[in-house]
Amino acid sequence: MLNDPAYVREQYRASNNLTARIALHERFSTAPRDWFDWYFDRLDLPMNARVLEVGCGVGELWKHNRARIPATWQITLTDFSFGMIEQSRAANIATRLAQCDAQNLPFEFECFDAVIANHMLYHVPDIARALAQFKRVLRRGGKFYAATNGATHMREYFQLIAEFRATEPTFPQLTFTLENGAAQLAHAFADVRRFDFDDALSVTETEPLVAYALSGAISKALSERADALRDFIAARIARDGAIRIKKSSGLFVGAQVARRGVERLPHGFSKVT
Ligand SMILES: C[S@@+](CC[C@H](N)C(=O)[O-])C[C@H]1O[C@@H](n2cnc3c(N)ncnc32)[C@H](O)[C@@H]1O
Repeated sequence: MLNDPAYVREQYRASNNLTARIALHERFSTAPRDWFDWYFDRLDLPMNARVLEVGCGVGELWKHNRARIPATWQITLTDFSFGMIEQSRAANIATRLAQCDAQNLPFEFECFDAVIANHMLYHVPDIARALAQFKRVLRRGGKFYAATNGATHMREYFQLIAEFRATEPTFPQLTFTLENGAAQLAHAFADVRRFDFDDALSVTETEPLVAYALSGAISKALSERADALRDFIAARIARDGAIRIKKSSGLFVGAQVARRGVERLPHGFSKVT
């Protein structure tokens, strides 16, 4: 379901679902260093880097690190949602913006030094095709960065929601995780390395967690009982002082080492030699 195009388009048509989720993490994460700070620390790029982010959402990576972005970088932000592109445009960071699908990038061969795909590959129906696109637009020696979650990410949250609904917990089945991502990336990139971000949530306020729940895949079922959900979460916080939720998230980094013209190209692109 998380890579069903109809679901993904509806989920990200506007930015409110994503911003509710980012807000929960920004306010209640326990890690000493913020995720977007930690992530930016790992970008090892030349001073004149041409950077592409696919599935950029509201551009939070860049907004959060605005003061650290070298003025000499050229940043291209893309997302298939018009609503997200408009939010990223308002942030006024990108040299260029484009509304496009990661599986069909409208860019020349080898025109970027880095491609970034954060928490989005599990939404893409054909991951291999998207990876072939990223490889195509990266120059030889360019870097690929992809953040994602592990299989146990926020299990206590899904158990809490199941308890509220009196059902068995259902955990998201992601097609691109910390556990299976390296094997998928190895088909496209060399020297794939994984970096884990050690973090958890300690939620001490009801409303941000209610907003998070109402932003997700079962938002319709939950919104019909929003007041009961609010009472349930408030009672749990009153009883325990906080709702504690472990996270599992991190980042893969790979390198583009193929020679121009030797890799297989996705349908619709002619081979350049
Ligand atoms: C979970 S959000 C992540 C946003 C951002 N990368 C971040 O880390 O904050 C996933 C984003 O990927 C976008 N997306 C999903 N499938 C896509 C596709 N096939 N091509 C381009 N963007 C896509 C969504 O519109 C959404 O903005």
